[in-house]
Amino acid sequence: MKMDMITNVNEYEAIAKEKLPKMVYDYYASGAEDQWTLKENQNAFSRILFRPRILVDVSKIDLTATVLGFKISMPIMIAPTAMQKMAHPEGELATARAASAAGTIMTLSSWATSSVEEVASTGPDIRFFQLYVFKDRNVAAQLVRRAERAGFKAIALTVDTPILGRREADIKNRFALPSHLVLKNFEGLDLRKLDKTSDSNVASYVAGPFDQSFNWKDIQWLQTITSLPILLKGVLTAEDTRIAVQAGVAGIIVSNHGARQLDYVPATIMALEEVVKAAQGRIPVFLDGGIRRDW
Ligand code: LAC
Repeated sequence: MKMDMITNVNEYEAIAKEKLPKMVYDYYASGAEDQWTLKENQNAFSRILFRPRILVDVSKIDLTATVLGFKISMPIMIAPTAMQKMAHPEGELATARAASAAGTIMTLSSWATSSVEEVASTGPDIRFFQLYVFKDRNVAAQLVRRAERAGFKAIALTVDTPILGRREADIKNRFALPSHLVLKNFEGLDLRKLDKTSDSNVASYVAGPFDQSFNWKDIQWLQTITSLPILLKGVLTAEDTRIAVQAGVAGIIVSNHGARQLDYVPATIMALEEVVKAAQGRIPVFLDGGIRRDW
């Protein structure tokens, strides 16, 4: 199929499978372990149907939404995904331009193959930065400072990854970032104190292992090193939502990490209602795969 004949976003998947090296396609496409949650993410959405109301004046429609005070053209943003230059030489830069053209916000992965500065240089748009905290806290601190300086407006802290999910295709393929690419945000950072990991999975390609001791108390630490709003990405329960509100975070992203972390967790769309109820309108709740505007 020709790219200019694409009429449905689902068609990109078949084209990607045809064009990309198997190792790269599998990295993007896979969920963790049995991939039950991966299927459930789609199945759960497909069970939620429209109840169309008729005879409403729709000659003027307004899809705009406000996120942390920033206006976007529609209640859809671009979630962080790692290593986009494996798919195309322009990688995250093309995504940034597309977000700008669509009038919405992109969150850049800390595992991007383009730096925060390079992405910022595509234009003066609003962008958020996704963060992992590694054993050496200083790496996170340096990343945050760098994102702040590049004009990023919020930190999306991933909280579902004390270890990387077991993606079996990556293990079989011996996944490695192609040698012509680098994780640009770690370039030039002081990484001396980090352990080297001999893990066979993707975690060995970043600065070092995740900080498995990182917990609610450390959210305070993050709040002391940045004045940017902090969104917690990876919340799936009412219990954690209540603690997050108490902790004073700026928002919650209901996410199962694209089903790439713990398998056999609910689809995000199934967890959304309990999280929204628990948040009681005190902080905004976003859905990985869509956002709610009625907070
Ligand atoms: C992943 C990490 C990078 O899911 O977020 O591969």
